[in-house]
Amino acid sequence: METNPTPYKRQIFVCTNDRKGESASCGDHQGEEVFRRLREIAKERKLHPTIRVTQAKCLGQCAKGVNIMIYPKNVWYSAVRLEDVSKIADECIKV
Ligand code: FES
Repeated sequence: METNPTPYKRQIFVCTNDRKGESASCGDHQGEEVFRRLREIAKERKLHPTIRVTQAKCLGQCAKGVNIMIYPKNVWYSAVRLEDVSKIADECIKV
């Protein structure tokens, strides 16, 4: 086993879990699309993977989806909609 400092300046976890309507999930509100758009923006800005946008498969706040958790910024976004992505990107996808 090796222990190293994290290779990323920031990691953005976007919940893309989709329970297909069986119970509340971030998939009810386009979690996958939110993730894809954020990652696209990080790549367009040439900040991926320095700022890494990662899929999460449940962050434990399913009824408040779409959920996004950011480290080490220590910020949590909930009830995110696709139209919120550019604002989140401007706040978090920058060096
Ligand atoms: S399904 Fe997204 S937080 Fe649980």
